[in-house]
Amino acid sequence: MPGAARNAPKLPGQLKCHPSGEQSGMAEACLHGAFMKGYDEEKVLSVHHWTERLFSFRTTRSPSFRFDNGQFTMIGLAVNGKPLVRAYSVASPNYEEHLEFLSIKVPEGPLTSKLQNMQVGDTVLIGQKPTGTLVLDALLPGRNLYLLGTGTGLAPYMSLVRDPDVYARFEKVVLVHGCRFVKELAYHDYLTKELPNDEFLGEDVRAKLLYYPTVTREPYENTGRITTAITSGDLTKKLGLPAIDPAQDRVMICGSPAFLEDVKTLMLSMSFDEGATNKPGSFVIEKAFVQR
Ligand code: A2P
Repeated sequence: MPGAARNAPKLPGQLKCHPSGEQSGMAEACLHGAFMKGYDEEKVLSVHHWTERLFSFRTTRSPSFRFDNGQFTMIGLAVNGKPLVRAYSVASPNYEEHLEFLSIKVPEGPLTSKLQNMQVGDTVLIGQKPTGTLVLDALLPGRNLYLLGTGTGLAPYMSLVRDPDVYARFEKVVLVHGCRFVKELAYHDYLTKELPNDEFLGEDVRAKLLYYPTVTREPYENTGRITTAITSGDLTKKLGLPAIDPAQDRVMICGSPAFLEDVKTLMLSMSFDEGATNKPGSFVIEKAFVQR
């Protein structure tokens, strides 16, 4: 059980107004503090632009913000004194002092068109009630854990692959990330170079984490859709694993609606059953996914 990860009751009076909020339209928001009820106002600590379509950012974290690795929360900006927010998975593990998020950039997207211009020191709104189904407690115990994600669907797994409990519960943890292009494989170098050498997690990561990046629109070491890699058996064959077995293996799924639908159909056809925290199963799906 990820003991430290339980959702703690929120303390009253969490709303904070930061003096530099003007940059994100926060001056007005602070005057109308009631609109921001339910949100912490955090500072942007760093921003990393992976591609013209993808970026990640770190923020400060309220000590009262508690989450289970794999969960999402509402993130956004104060616009005209009201929160403009979308669901974002937390990409950082729950023991870190900061929070990290991975986002797409859509030029005409109401939130991401603004969010992508964020600068260090800006203020972002972070919903105080993280939730979501990509959590260990929604899965039955098992042998190998498959984390399947496309695009920014990688985010919740960046939290989970840094959770020691994940390695304690499963023999192998298979992180499968599908993108159109190689440059969109965010965190690739972190996953292949830094994490295996992490002071605390390195040993578990080296023994148990298998990373399978695949791209669909240019040549690469692995190519093709995740669904194809599963149905053809290439995924397990290339990784030297036994065939995926619903009786023993567990699966998490996060990505675009089309991806979710196709993988869910595939899972059901393989006799996997969908889990939830009140009824753990052999696979779980995250439906919250930012597209604009
Ligand atoms: P493809 O290039 O064949 O569409 P996107 O950026 O559109 O969200 O796609 C991210 C990755 O997910 C791409 O590699 C894309 O492959 C793949 N993908 C999109 N839809 C599906 C689906 N229904 N099943 C499996 N993979 C998908």
